[in-house]
Amino acid sequence: MTALINKLEHEGARAICGRHNNKPDALLEILHEAQEFDGYLGDQALRTIAEALNISRAEIHGVVSFYHDYRREPPARHVIKLCRAEACQAVGSEALAAHAEEKWKTPTGGISADQKIGLEAVYCLGNCALGPAAMIDGELYGRITPGRLEALVAERLDKSERE
Ligand code: FES
Repeated sequence: MTALINKLEHEGARAICGRHNNKPDALLEILHEAQEFDGYLGDQALRTIAEALNISRAEIHGVVSFYHDYRREPPARHVIKLCRAEACQAVGSEALAAHAEEKWKTPTGGISADQKIGLEAVYCLGNCALGPAAMIDGELYGRITPGRLEALVAERLDKSERE
């Protein structure tokens, strides 16, 4: 029985809860740290956190689904965030997003079938004068065209395949 319980235990999540003294008040911070640990919040991590903080799984799922920052699925290897706010819309961000969806065959908010590319919409990256703006793996770019977007992503794919 102990072996089964240990298999269901997420050691990283258990350690994170321990650092916060298993306090339910620290739930949001614990969830952020657990997400950083794995890149997403899997069932095993959520089960461990619920048990450590002595709160119900329903409560924890409610919190996770309320905040958009929490991710329940593993992230794509490369994440493209395209700005869809007004200033970028005025200079072609919708066409750029449609091109990206077509190119990587995933809707915005989804991940390509090979798990390599995730497409996300954001609403202003603070780069309005240089729209359309995009963020690729955390790096900000301006005046993005479909061709430039493809080239930037291809560069990253090449690099990650060489690593
Ligand atoms: S509207 Fe796109 S960066 Fe501000």
